[in-house]
Amino acid sequence: MSTRTLIRGGLVITAADETHADVLIEDGRIAALAAHGSEQAASWTADRIIDATDKYVIPGGVDAHTHMELPFGGTFASDTFETGTRAAAWGGTTTIVDFAVQSQGRSLREGLDAWYAKADGQCAIDYAFHMILSDVNDGTLKEMDRLVEEGITSFKLFMAYPGVFYSDDGQILRAMQRAAGNGGLIMMHAENGIAIDVLVEQALQRGETDPRYHGEVRKVLLEAEATHRAIQLARVAGAPLYVVHVSAEEAVAELAAARDKGLPVFGETCPQYLFLSTDNLAEPDFAGAKYVCSTPLRPREHQAALWRGLRTDDLQVVSTDHCPFCFVGQKELGRGDFSKIPNGLPGVENRMDLLHQAVVDGHISRRRWIDIACAAPARMFGLYGKKGTLAPGADADVVIYDPTAEQTLSAETHHMNVDYSASEGKRVRGQVETVLSRGEVVVDQRKFTGLAGHGVYTPRGTCQYLND
Ligand code: URP
Ligand code: ZN
Ligand code: ZN
Ligand code: ZN
Repeated sequence: MSTRTLIRGGLVITAADETHADVLIEDGRIAALAAHGSEQAASWTADRIIDATDKYVIPGGVDAHTHMELPFGGTFASDTFETGTRAAAWGGTTTIVDFAVQSQGRSLREGLDAWYAKADGQCAIDYAFHMILSDVNDGTLKEMDRLVEEGITSFKLFMAYPGVFYSDDGQILRAMQRAAGNGGLIMMHAENGIAIDVLVEQALQRGETDPRYHGEVRKVLLEAEATHRAIQLARVAGAPLYVVHVSAEEAVAELAAARDKGLPVFGETCPQYLFLSTDNLAEPDFAGAKYVCSTPLRPREHQAALWRGLRTDDLQVVSTDHCPFCFVGQKELGRGDFSKIPNGLPGVENRMDLLHQAVVDGHISRRRWIDIACAAPARMFGLYGKKGTLAPGADADVVIYDPTAEQTLSAETHHMNVDYSASEGKRVRGQVETVLSRGEVVVDQRKFTGLAGHGVYTPRGTCQYLND
């Protein structure tokens, strides 16, 4: 049976356009858009009409970097696919790309199948996977080809975390060469983990155990150096490169220099680097542990370079790196030794709002908001057209956004399964009102109406910045 939904009277914003238009949805997809008040729009009938007067009508957010249930530091990220995707929906995100993890000594296949199983039937919104490579060898290199064909078209490598996820330069080069041949995109955690581990040990020997030392040992120069090295290795391999969670001005400069040469080098940053700083890591009574992630938060001065990079397209994507650990019982594992604090911050629910606040604050335009949060991540990871925009044929993943509502972000009111908010008490203007996922209303005027299992696995194509 065909169901038609009409979203009427809102300001439709995409990465390319802003128009007062009505949106007709049929069978889970956008059927048509027409100017509000036009004869065509007036002729449309629907089973359900959503009044979006004075609201924005935007594509559902695409969060291309989440870690639901990630095993890390002897514990697991506290959001499951069920709780994490429900929180994402609350925050106007309708697609996540999560990281399946290869365990050392195991195949990519085993890691990927475990992730399919974790997510299956649990998700409120659509989801896809990247693959983390922890063990680059002849077998895993061959497996990469098969994964690309299967719709897992991006692979994260780590220059950090020796003994856990770390790959050496030879392994990185080989994986990049493979990606150059099979159309995959290498995503890099760019920090010199070998040097960092020396500094960690020296800091602990000096008795520097508080969370703020996490930020001090993971030096800006070691992010910039690794970013530079990753770019050179990608050039040697003839492969494109996407650097994840860029936090330092000097790393943005490396990306900008590469892009000025015309190299296919891309960068992502996250709200925590745009809004938080080493001041948070220094909060007393171990509260700084709430802000321990890698790359680490930086001194506030770095934020201007990140915003500039987002405006000049030296950075293309803002994703959350959502990797929540409760303060009680999880972050506390690192009391007396910052290196034992599980790395990661919650944020999947807050990204669209924080970036809208950036529009209010004048850092970016409304269209750039939609670009960095929806269109660019979709395009980067082979989902654009289906996701990331509002156009005929696209999945009807739509957010009705109230740009004037005010809210205070807090653990008291958020839906992420974590006992603190990294944005506790922050006032923002703008709020998600209604969310559709493939035409179904999953948040209805700030009431959750979705279902675990509505979200489907979505295989991806290759990076669309390279095809056109
Ligand atoms: O601290 C972080 N970012 N935790 C998640 C793992 C990663 O490196 O992305
Ligand atoms: Zn990382
Ligand atoms: Zn991550
Ligand atoms: Zn459904």
